[in-house]
Amino acid sequence: MGSESARSRVLSGMRPTGRLHLGHYHGVLRNWIALQHEYECYYFVADWHALTTSYGDTADIERHSFDMVVDWLAAGVSPTSAAIFIQSKVPEHAELHLLLSMITPVSWLERAPSYKDLQARLNDRELATYGFLGYPVLQAADILIYRAGQVPVGADQVAHVELSREIARRFNHLFGSEPGFDEHCQAAIKKMGRKAARLYVSLRKAYVEQGDAGAMERGRALLAEQRNLSIGDRERLFGYLEGGGRIILPEPEALLTEQPKVPGLDGEKMSKSYGNTIALREPPLEIERKVRGMKTDPARARRRDPGDPSNCPVFDLHRIYSAPSTQEWAAEGCRSAGIGCLDCKKPLIEAICAEQAAMTERGAPFEEQPDLVHRVLQEGAEKAREVAKETLDEVRACIGIAHK
Ligand code: TRP
Ligand code: SF4
Repeated sequence: MGSESARSRVLSGMRPTGRLHLGHYHGVLRNWIALQHEYECYYFVADWHALTTSYGDTADIERHSFDMVVDWLAAGVSPTSAAIFIQSKVPEHAELHLLLSMITPVSWLERAPSYKDLQARLNDRELATYGFLGYPVLQAADILIYRAGQVPVGADQVAHVELSREIARRFNHLFGSEPGFDEHCQAAIKKMGRKAARLYVSLRKAYVEQGDAGAMERGRALLAEQRNLSIGDRERLFGYLEGGGRIILPEPEALLTEQPKVPGLDGEKMSKSYGNTIALREPPLEIERKVRGMKTDPARARRRDPGDPSNCPVFDLHRIYSAPSTQEWAAEGCRSAGIGCLDCKKPLIEAICAEQAAMTERGAPFEEQPDLVHRVLQEGAEKAREVAKETLDEVRACIGIAHK
């Protein structure tokens, strides 16, 4: 179970695919941007994950990482709100990956849906590697090193977050009973102040001895509002409250928000590999050319033929970009053949151009001065490492290899 303190941390990553498109923006980035104002956010480029499948062709990884980060910044991911960094610049991920690999049964990894799927799909390369099998362990390390409570991901990644939960649970079970646990808890309780401490002890008693679930909930809330407990102490007291050992690595939750359908120019899902994308920061003339050429309801072969908006990818874009009144105008005009498809596309072209102009403007300084991007990434990595080191120190101590 994730603690209250950890629930306020959000982490997510993307493999470095280079320039992003509208599908990434509406599917993922908008979500990241909304979360950064409410939570402590960590967003990173998963360059090691790229190596698990593309170790044979690494020429583009750096450029793709850079371009992708510029798109994040252009879209509005804010380096003052979120830590933005490159995975390989935070080597703590690798150490936790190593330690978690000691306790993760191979059978859990072979059973991960992405494992066999991708191996079959990318059959041009050798993927029976140690690193590729460990892909989800590395992802678990990415998440658990920040004790992130929420992980905004697409549906295809939910299984990986689930596996992270199982790995965290196994870790806590194996290493959560540190020597001197009770003494540590007693000391931590004292730090809460007399009144809160007395309440905590009575709530714990009510839960452990009488199974009063309400008392457990109140105990958790009480811990969440304590200001003078370290993360370590708080996690201890969460574990102690439930009568178990200490929760060192809280279990994260996948945050699946509603994702609009973003069609590509051909009506299939927008995807780089289909060559049907509108890129972020695409110039207005290109946007216009692409949208004008976009596939529509085949029933409207001629201008006078009526159509059905629910058969038309252009209308899916209206759902994302247009006000209800414009959507109604388009739908009605389509069904009655009152408007032509180019008329229908016009407000859409304007809306996408306006959105992308804002991104182009926000991205320009980063595009022109790469050092600005490097600085963002450097600061992001520093911020991330501070938190990551704290977790790792505790992990080492719990395992019994602190060597102090
Ligand atoms: N596997 C993710 C993807 O392909 C990228 C990723 C790596 C990630 N580590 C992560 C996502 C941690 C969320 C949390 O999209
Ligand atoms: Fe699609 Fe609009 Fe043409 Fe209808 S009028 S087919 S919704 S582009």
